[in-house]
Amino acid sequence: MPRFIALPALCLLLAASAARAAPDTYALPEPTAQFKAPPDAGHAAGFQAAQENCQTCHSADYVAMQPPRKGPAFWDAEVAKMVKVYHAPIEAEQAKAIAAYLGATY
Ligand code: HEC
Repeated sequence: MPRFIALPALCLLLAASAARAAPDTYALPEPTAQFKAPPDAGHAAGFQAAQENCQTCHSADYVAMQPPRKGPAFWDAEVAKMVKVYHAPIEAEQAKAIAAYLGATY
């Protein structure tokens, strides 16, 4: 007896999944966090490098959340930690530019 019930149920299931075959589209919300523009053009490269390298694992919120005016040494250490502890694949040159940008901007 259960076999006779299972077949119609399977048909229903297949029909239902065929109806869902059309691609779903999603409207993503605007990003809530963005890196702040640097105070001067000298830090533009670091600004760009931060945008390219510092949002792969977490958002820019992590930077914005830190207490303000921590200074360059804090940001040097922060970037070094991302590279050494969390293995962020960032070149030494880029890391330096990012730290300088963060120190000057946040
Ligand atoms: C490989 C992944 C990865 C990349 C890339 C990365 N981070 Fe992180 N970051 C982490 C992890 C993991 C944490 C810790 C998360 C937690 O504790 O919840 C973190 C935390 C932070 C924090 C919070 C304070 C702290 O020390 O925990 C700051 C600020 C931060 N990251 C800045 C940066 C900056 C700036 C960059 C770019 C240079 C960067 N991150 C790139 C993984 C990454």
